Amino acid sequence: MQILVTGGAGFIGSHTVLALLEAGHSVISIDNFSNSKPEALRRVAKLAGLGEAVEGAGAKILDWPGKLAVFRGDAGNEQDLSAAFAHGKVDAAIHFAGLKAVGESVQIPMKYYEVNLGTTFALVRVMDRLGVRNLAFSSSATVYGNPDSLPIVEDFPLRTASPYGRTKLFIEDILCDLAVAGAKQNKPWKIALLRYFNPVGAHESGRIGEDPNGIPNNLFPFLTQVVVGRLKELSVFGNDYPTADGTAVRDYIHVVDLADGHVKAVEAMAKADSWTGAEAFNLATGNGNSVLDVIKNFEAATGKKVPYKIAPRRAGDVTACYASPAKAKRMLGWEGKRDMAAMCVDSWRWQQQNPQGYGAS
Ligand code: UFG
Repeated sequence: MQILVTGGAGFIGSHTVLALLEAGHSVISIDNFSNSKPEALRRVAKLAGLGEAVEGAGAKILDWPGKLAVFRGDAGNEQDLSAAFAHGKVDAAIHFAGLKAVGESVQIPMKYYEVNLGTTFALVRVMDRLGVRNLAFSSSATVYGNPDSLPIVEDFPLRTASPYGRTKLFIEDILCDLAVAGAKQNKPWKIALLRYFNPVGAHESGRIGEDPNGIPNNLFPFLTQVVVGRLKELSVFGNDYPTADGTAVRDYIHVVDLADGHVKAVEAMAKADSWTGAEAFNLATGNGNSVLDVIKNFEAATGKKVPYKIAPRRAGDVTACYASPAKAKRMLGWEGKRDMAAMCVDSWRWQQQNPQGYGAS
């Protein structure tokens, strides 16, 4: 199949592009590189053994003909999107492009609504016009808010506390409405709402990984930047939660496993009749780890000391969040295989080999 990926150069996008290529699919990526670099996709191509790129002058900046085409463009702009879709017949799209910092979304909510909803509207319009109606959407565990019980299953009530979370929830609702309407109008959509828990780790080569702009918000990139010496010490946000050690619990999922979940989703959709409408999936391991568990696992797996201090709780954080991945296993044949030790070792390898991320490259 040929898959169009918005935001293909980002953390999860780049690992997914590699997983798609390794599974024998071809990929068209469109990215405005607002929080990513083309270098990520050059490295993906190298890991996939694609050889030399054809360098482009226009929107198509890199091309490995028949395998991977890289467009510089805005997924919120129908013209940019149409140019990428015109590269060749597209069987399905995976929509990663969007803004993702919870705290920032409180400061600049309109930007989050414009970008996250705007890219989805443009993508759906272009897809509908071209009759491409298989779509995997990058959603988030944030749609469950503070769950009443654990583990989380897909039919739990949805609620969320931040503008970022609301963009994910609104888009899920919009895509569900689209699928219902499409079914009645003989334009059937197959849509996967992929609810990521906490994506961490990096490809085991150490060549691609997470490279956030500025000071990281998330635990793993902050922790590895402390250990590599870019930041002084990790603040553990709160040790008075009602958990075994007082620190908050999350379901960390290795990004390579997460990437494989996208491949499985688009492959499952392609099988005739096995799927209609919009389906939500938890992409999670089912295991909860506290912040202190992560630190201990990191120290044990890498032999590196993690300097940290206990700090006040971070506003908006939930106590514990982990999920049942049973539905993804049943319908997609997917499960996370990599454990916390692999998540730590692979994150560290990436950080150590790329102390400045992709740098100026
Ligand atoms: N944490 C720290 N110190 C840090 C950073 C994080 O102690 O410097 C803690 C947090 O308080 C939390 C845990 O580590 O308990 C994980 O925090 P992350 O920021 O890595 O991840 P979150 O669980 O807050 O956020 C993730 C995704 C969001 C998504 C959210 C929904 O990054 O996109 O899950 O559950 F919205």
